[in-house]
This record gives sequence, structure tokens and C-alpha cells, in this order.
Amino acid sequence: MVGKTVIVGVTGGIAAYKAAELVSSLVKKGLNVHVILTKAALDFITPLTLETLAKNPVLVDEPTGSQGIYVPHIDLALKAELFVVVPATANTIAKIATGIADNLLTSTILATKAPVLLAPSMNVNMYENPITQKNIEFLKSIGFHFIEPEEGFLACGTVGKGRLPAIPVILEEIERLLCLKKDFQGKRVIVTAGGTREAIDPVRYIGNRSSGKMGFAIAKEAYKRGAQVTLIAGNTTVEPPQGVKLIRAFSTEKMRDEVLKVFPDADVVIKAAAVADYKPKTVEQSKIKKGEQNLTIELCPTVDILKELGKIKDKQILVGFAAETDQVAMNAKKKLEEKNLDLLVANDVSKEGAGFEVDTNIVSILYRNGQVEEFPLLTKAEIATLVLDRIAALPRFECQVKES
Ligand SMILES: Cc1cc2nc3c(=O)[nH]c(=O)nc-3n(C[C@H](O)[C@H](O)[C@H](O)COP(=O)(O)O)c2cc1C
Repeated sequence: MVGKTVIVGVTGGIAAYKAAELVSSLVKKGLNVHVILTKAALDFITPLTLETLAKNPVLVDEPTGSQGIYVPHIDLALKAELFVVVPATANTIAKIATGIADNLLTSTILATKAPVLLAPSMNVNMYENPITQKNIEFLKSIGFHFIEPEEGFLACGTVGKGRLPAIPVILEEIERLLCLKKDFQGKRVIVTAGGTREAIDPVRYIGNRSSGKMGFAIAKEAYKRGAQVTLIAGNTTVEPPQGVKLIRAFSTEKMRDEVLKVFPDADVVIKAAAVADYKPKTVEQSKIKKGEQNLTIELCPTVDILKELGKIKDKQILVGFAAETDQVAMNAKKKLEEKNLDLLVANDVSKEGAGFEVDTNIVSILYRNGQVEEFPLLTKAEIATLVLDRIAALPRFECQVKES
């Protein structure tokens, strides 16, 4: 990323002040940052602030003394390796969608061949207005990238979708677009995450402590490396990543149905979800009343999704996760063979820093030829990177590349 040229366009929205944090963060990462402001943006943030942070002159339509200079937009358009507009007003999105080039920002966007990332931020009604939605859909269809606004309290006093996401979220998307490693480009990847819940009665269930962090980290990494990701998630406690298609499936049966729907078209399936092994044999229709006697709930096995996928798999690369508390290596090897997996990521969830809820894990990766790779304590993001590196190194992955 270091040394790449990014243009940051700032438009006249209430979130314009946040552009200062973005510019500062990009410069700290070693990027060459140029800022273009619309006239309306000048009412919300001063060029002096951005110029100081960017360490480059800020460009405005009408230069005001030392605060800006006007340069031919074509020069800058050609220099850019990425163009981001943060925040992007409804007005500027509409102008870009219709090719209106009546200011320096929109003319430079029209002239650039660099990828363009827009971060809309506005009142919820403005955002949900079919005109804005149509403009966004059109721009997406011709290759523009968007960061979805978040739901929350808006400056206009209302609550709804329209807030600019936190700057680290925008930075991640910028890194993804500038990232050179696109080895999953064109691949369809299914990731399952989180824990499933099996109903006992209308209010109770059998569940587990899975947070979804491991699966989410994998989905995020696959997306970053160019994959088209479908994330099928059960119960989770953290925010899902941006840019993936999220499908919720809270029970094992529902997760199976959702996975089977997308499996035929998938290239890689990574099953990081903590799926229940057992479920109550019968689900009570009314809430079970508290009583004096012991209560026995008879359990029966749930469907084995991984085994089913292992039987029907064709071109797909199938990767499983095994959370064990004892005889990890032996159990993991058995699972790899029985379920016809290409790779198995095993972890001993009884170890400090490994397994559920935490941000770290200690894993081993098992291969079909009996090879085992052991890793030290790593963050789940680091594990996601190395799991995808191992998948990309499989001969079957290369064959898929040749076929497509
Ligand atoms: C106080 C104030 C806040 C505004 N906030 C937003 C906003 O958050 N998002 C938006 O799309 N428009 C917002 N607008 C409207 C834009 O400033 C207006 O559409 C302007 O023409 C945008 O110009 P530009 O797209 O060239 O920057 C706001 C206007 C005012 C007066």
C-alpha cells in the first residue's frame, strides 16, 4: 500500500469533519493523499485542516488564497490508484450517476479510471428515497464500490440508516481495494459461522458459546482477496463483516438447508460454525413449567452437514473446523477422513487463548496426505489469512482457476 496515490473527495454532508481522521490515517499508512472538496464541503470543514493532514495542497473549485489551488482535473484523475468520497452526499451520488461534471470533484471522477469507493451519509429518508437507491444500484452495476451507511442516531435528530461507518471500517475497505493479493478473485466462497440453537420449547434452547469471530474473520479475508462470499451465520455476538452476502440460519437444520442451496455453485466451503451435535427429540409446544421433579430431555443427533457435503462434493474444496477438548489430533484426523475434507483446522478449546469468544486461537491444520501443521497463539484474523493461503496452495484450487 505504501506510496500509492489516493484521492479523497469530501462533499457537503454533516459527516465531512470525519474526513480529517480518514486523511490522517491514510497518510500514517504511507499513502500519497490528495483531497478535493466541493463548494458545499467548505461549509463543514476547512481546507487548512485537510491540507495540514494530507501534506498536499487541497483542491477546491474556487481557490481561496493559500487555502487551495486549482489544477487540471485530468492530471489528478490519471495519478489516482483509488478514489474515495467520504462522505458522499445524495447530491454528489446523483451527479456521478448521471455524469454531471459541474465541479472539480465530479469531473475528476468522470475522468478517472481508478476504482471509486463512495461512502454515502445522509438523513435516512434521503438514503432510502428510491431516487438515491436507484442511483446507488446503477453505480454498483457499473463497478463503483460502496460502503453501506450504518443504522443509528442521525445528526438531523432521527434514527435510521444513514450514519457514516467508523473510519477503521472505511480504511479496511480502502486496504481491500488497494490490496494486490486477489487470489480469490472470481471464487465463490461459502463460510459458516457462529453457533446453532436447538429449541427445547418456545423460549429455551440448547446452544453453545461460539461468537462467530473465527468465521467472520475468514469471510472478511476471503472478501478482501476478491471472493464472492456467502456467509451463513447462526447465533453470533459480533458485527458481521461488510461486503459479504449474509444469511441467518439459527438451527442446524436451517443451516443445512441454506448451505445446500448455495453449495452447487461454490468453489470453496469453509465450515467454521459450531453446529449442535444433538437436539431435543421433541420440541414442546408450550413453555415447560418449573416443577419439583428432575426433568429429562431426550436428545437425538442433528443432521451432519459436513458429512453430507463431503459425500456430494464435486469441484468444491471443503474445509472443516474441529473444536476438541481431548485427543485433538486423533479426533481431527478421523473427522478429516470420515467427512471427506480437503483441510481440517483443529483447535483445543480447553487451551488458554483458544476457541470460543476470544480474539485469538491456537490451531493445527491437517491435510489429506497426513501432514499436520501446528501454529502458535495467533489472532483469528491471522489464522484466517493462513487458512486461505493454505486453500489457495491446494492443487485443486489451481485446477479451478484453470477451468474458470
Ligand atoms: C446543515 C446541513 C447538513 C447537511 N447534511 C447532509 C448530509 O449529511 N448528507 C447529504 O447528502 N446532504 C446533506 N446536506 C445537503 C447538501 O449540503 C446539499 O445537497 C449540497 O448541495 C451538497 O453539495 P455537494 O454534493 O456538492 O457537496 C446538508 C445541508 C445542510 C445545510
